[in-house]
Amino acid sequence: MSERESVARTLGVATGVAVFCSLFVSSAVLWLRPIQLAYASIERNRAIVEAAGLVEPGVELDEREIVDRFLDLEARIVDLDAGAFSDPVSPTTYDFRAAIDDPDQTRSIPDELDIANLGRRPVYLPVYLLRDGAGIELIVLPIYGPGMWAMIHGFISVRADFTTIEAVTFYEHGETPGIGDRFLDPAWLAQWQGRRAYDDTRRVVFRIGADEATPAANGAIDAITGATVTTSAIEDLVRYWLGDDGFGPFLATQRGAAQ
Ligand SMILES: Cc1cc2nc3c(=O)[nH]c(=O)nc-3n(C[C@H](O)[C@H](O)[C@H](O)COP(=O)(O)O)c2cc1C
Repeated sequence: MSERESVARTLGVATGVAVFCSLFVSSAVLWLRPIQLAYASIERNRAIVEAAGLVEPGVELDEREIVDRFLDLEARIVDLDAGAFSDPVSPTTYDFRAAIDDPDQTRSIPDELDIANLGRRPVYLPVYLLRDGAGIELIVLPIYGPGMWAMIHGFISVRADFTTIEAVTFYEHGETPGIGDRFLDPAWLAQWQGRRAYDDTRRVVFRIGADEATPAANGAIDAITGATVTTSAIEDLVRYWLGDDGFGPFLATQRGAAQ
């Protein structure tokens, strides 16, 4: 065997190639991370401006237009435990997506209230106000919860009566393409417009695929055949975030203040 073909040399070359490849892959991951985060934040802002009704149907906005329209909204932080705005926390620096996974910034949800199986939730969450002069025309709220395979994240907007849903948008999920992800169909999402979130006694009445046992006060949004796991997860997470442990007390305060 010539020196060029020795076992030691072969092993040395193989190890060198393996080390080079792993260094290359790890630095690519690190290098791409900021781009990935920037992209995620653009998709989140796109979902916010869409929920606020600042995008004409069928129009694809570029990144600059998304930022311009996002700036038409006023970001505020809500203290969910107090059911009120919390001005000492800055909406420009507060990262609610990081807070969601941080035990120090979340508290556990009592079992009987945890209808969306979240386990914990942050005390502070951002909301986005579309102003009409001094008043509020629309408020956009973050919503999330486990789907069949992964967390589903979105936003729901509520009109100035703090009772009627205007729109819902989703920007992150892990549901199966072609099966579970049919909740992104614009025709299905259009059904949400004008649905009542609450009845006159502040009870959450929003439903997806209601039946006789659980009737909806305002007619239910259709469930999606073959994607019942995903649509009932969406119903649960929306009912949780509109409910007493979510934005319910805050929206009730705003409703009182608006009357
Ligand atoms: C590979 C595979 C992936 C699936 N992904 C989803 C999904 O993402 N969301 C969902 O609701 N159902 C999904 N399903 C279907 C569910 O297992 C379940 O059958 C369905 O949600 C029940 O809906 P139905 O009661 O309307 O028939 C998937 C099924 C298979 C076999």
